[in-house]
Amino acid sequence: MATRNWIPVRGAQGRRSRQAHADLPEGTFEREISKEGFFGPAAFIYHPRPPTGWTSFEGPLRPRAFDLNRLNEPAGSPWSAPVVLHNAATEIRFWKLAGPMPNLARNADGDQLLFVHEGRGDLFCDYGRLPFQAGDYLYLPRGTMWRLAPDGPAALLTIQATNTHFGLPDKGLLGGHALFDPAMLETPAIDEAFQAHQAERGDFRVEIKKRGQVSVVTYPYNPLDAVGWHGELAPVRLNVRDIRPVMSHRYHLPPSVHSTFVSDRFVVCTFTPRPFETDPGALKVPFFHNNDDYDEVLFYHAGDFFSRDHIEAGMMTFHPSGFTHGPHPKALKNMFSQPKPATDEYAVMIDARDPLDVGEAASTVENPDYVNSWRSPG
Ligand SMILES: [Fe+2]
Repeated sequence: MATRNWIPVRGAQGRRSRQAHADLPEGTFEREISKEGFFGPAAFIYHPRPPTGWTSFEGPLRPRAFDLNRLNEPAGSPWSAPVVLHNAATEIRFWKLAGPMPNLARNADGDQLLFVHEGRGDLFCDYGRLPFQAGDYLYLPRGTMWRLAPDGPAALLTIQATNTHFGLPDKGLLGGHALFDPAMLETPAIDEAFQAHQAERGDFRVEIKKRGQVSVVTYPYNPLDAVGWHGELAPVRLNVRDIRPVMSHRYHLPPSVHSTFVSDRFVVCTFTPRPFETDPGALKVPFFHNNDDYDEVLFYHAGDFFSRDHIEAGMMTFHPSGFTHGPHPKALKNMFSQPKPATDEYAVMIDARDPLDVGEAASTVENPDYVNSWRSPG
């Protein structure tokens, strides 16, 4: 974030709490309005009604939900997978793969992150072999040649850092080994299975994506023929079950605390199971907020999505900035007391600093009624 001389304000009016997300005035709902995600100046406004109490919502801006499970056409190439959301900084696709990729892939447009929603198998790449399973993030540095060989069908969310890189978040006060120890990052191995893959005969096609267009380079041998490598750049694997979320029993932490990978103009966060807050006055559901500088995307991987009604694994919600969002009515009933001791959800969040556009394929699996899902039941 650029250093700014923010316009100085320290105001307070009417009935309010002194501590954000805790000890709200009786009968109120808190809404956060803030700059630069949850890191800039912010205000907390106390409303007598949930700020999502709309009865109609007209025009191009609205909360949106897509059932990506219904994108049924499997694609052998990641570059044929349907684009779900995109802007100049990223391209997000949902890729169903029926079996091993027939060709190799290389992304010349930027670093690539794959999130394995379903399936297991092997990633073969310039650096060797890396087995994968559901819940894995696979990071592929720009220019890496790779091929996925799942044992059966697989489904992946693919996230591109256009013309730039993925890195890790600054862990600040938590220290470098919080969330996950860097030692948990697995790199590919030059092992027997990789050598057996190298020994396959025939023509090998590499589909290179550059500026969104695909070129094909053919070799009369398998170009994943490395006999060794060393360095500080390689694909890595991290499973969501290896992430150890941070929480506070007295304060509902903002979603940015779950950041897993960061790029220049967006972040990728992971929601994993964690205990609910126990302090009697602390909020136990996400606070209402406008997310004013970021477009927010959530992909639901597994579990019970505690702040959302009618959302199942394989669905994606998209909340462009510009309106308040927060828990659904059913979840809101548990604002101050949760029936369960812990959340049971795995979800991938992408927070984009620039507005995202909806891809054509996503529009075909949109739930147009999602905007009405905040209406109080009955
Ligand atoms: Fe948000």
